[in-house]
Amino acid sequence: MTLAIELNNVSTVYEGEKRPAIKDITLSIEEGETVYIVGPNAAGKTTLLETINGLLPVFKGYISVLGLDMRKHGRKIRCQIGYVPQDFMVDAGEPYRALDVVLMGRYGKVGVLGSPGREDKDKAIEAMKLLGIENLANRPVGKLSGGQQQKVMIARALAKDPRILLLDEPFSSLDPESRENLSELISRLSRERNVTVLVVTHDIQQIAGSCGRIIAMNNGRIVADGELMDVIEVVEKILPIGFWRKQR
Ligand SMILES: Nc1ncnc2c1ncn2[C@@H]1O[C@H](COP(=O)(O)OP(=O)(O)OP(=O)(O)O)[C@@H](O)[C@H]1O
Ligand SMILES: [Mg+2]
Repeated sequence: MTLAIELNNVSTVYEGEKRPAIKDITLSIEEGETVYIVGPNAAGKTTLLETINGLLPVFKGYISVLGLDMRKHGRKIRCQIGYVPQDFMVDAGEPYRALDVVLMGRYGKVGVLGSPGREDKDKAIEAMKLLGIENLANRPVGKLSGGQQQKVMIARALAKDPRILLLDEPFSSLDPESRENLSELISRLSRERNVTVLVVTHDIQQIAGSCGRIIAMNNGRIVADGELMDVIEVVEKILPIGFWRKQR
């Protein structure tokens, strides 16, 4: 068994804050595993992803990603992670084409000042095809719809050829068919490429259909971890009454 992600007693406190946003998190995720993370607003889901991505360097405890110690190898670790943030604002006047944005996923490989080559372009186009957006390659990204922009950001993360994918509410702007396609794509990446995927979502239907591992967070802590039937009781308690039942 190879561990992709290991956290031991990890707490993260934001600068200027007294209370940690995530507290005493101990967690092991195997390579190739897909894990859905649920919980109410402010539970600490985004903070957990950003801590794993090494974006919040001040943390207590021990983090190892792909066998590397985060304190020593933060940069090396980030090269292996594709991260799609929860909120990204694209200016309507943004001149970059969608393909340029996806190519940014290759910066870690070619360097910011290097120019992408044939292979980088092929990887970017392949990632766009996986999301079904290759026809948008030459469109200015600021002129795309919210859902199209979300797909561009996911393609950018995939173009990196990551071993770990961190997706923060990737379904939020997607229509039902696109949600289904993305779920299918996540399973394929795990099955065919052994990619480890962490998905934060408020979409209960998505996780109900996944039959995989679910982590529930509340007040900065992990309050349940297991398959749907193991976590359902806790999830019903921490999410608004009736929310879960209505969705099922
Ligand atoms: N940059 C920051 N500085 C200070 N506190 C922060 C910062 N970002 C988040 N927090 C706090 O950390 C806690 C966890 O926030 P986080 O964004 O991780 O929640 P979340 O589970 O992702 O919520 P949501 O479902 O709303 O996205 C919250 O109490 C929030 O106010
Ligand atoms: Mg969040």
